[in-house]
Amino acid sequence: MQPLTFLTVASLLAVVLGEVAVFKKCEPAADDICTISEVRITPCKSDKVCKLKKGELHSISFDFVPNFTTQKLKTGVFWANGAVDVPFAELQEADGCQYTTCPTEAGKSQQLNYSLRIGKKLPSGKFQLKWKVWNEENSDQYCCFLSNIRIMK
Ligand SMILES: *[C@@H]1O[C@H](CO)[C@@H](O)[C@H](O)[C@H]1NC(C)=O
Ligand SMILES: *[C@@H]1O[C@H](CO)[C@@H](O)[C@H](O)[C@H]1NC(C)=O
Repeated sequence: MQPLTFLTVASLLAVVLGEVAVFKKCEPAADDICTISEVRITPCKSDKVCKLKKGELHSISFDFVPNFTTQKLKTGVFWANGAVDVPFAELQEADGCQYTTCPTEAGKSQQLNYSLRIGKKLPSGKFQLKWKVWNEENSDQYCCFLSNIRIMK
């Protein structure tokens, strides 16, 4: 195969499957309550810190296995920069069932899909994105990951 063809195929695959982003679970989220196996951000444009362009739509999706069952799932995105988590205006305390299957089933892997638009007014730079999914009826039951992103003009 020609190198160019290979690259084309590889980038097409990345678009279809989403680009795997580096993430870690939040502390002190417990593995016996929820495990997250993969986070994909498309486009990502880097393998260590995804670069997200202002004004553009990015699809974020992740696979998780909740060890709890609920009809009332909430989800929210935060900037975790220091002591306080700053809620991201576009997605705070949202109905998680709009983006993943409900009810959740304990022990069953499920996927959450979201299209995130990075507002033009947000500052540029490196941020820690924190994503949470929780049971509205028991906030001890939650899934949470952190991923570094760079916001660019
Ligand atoms: C799910 O939670 C129960 C207790 O609530 C625990 O006994 C079990 O080990 C957990 N399962 C997993 C896969 O962590
Ligand atoms: C998330 O997206 C994938 C791939 O497009 C799709 O197969 C899956 O059904 C979606 N899940 C939900 C809950 O929308």
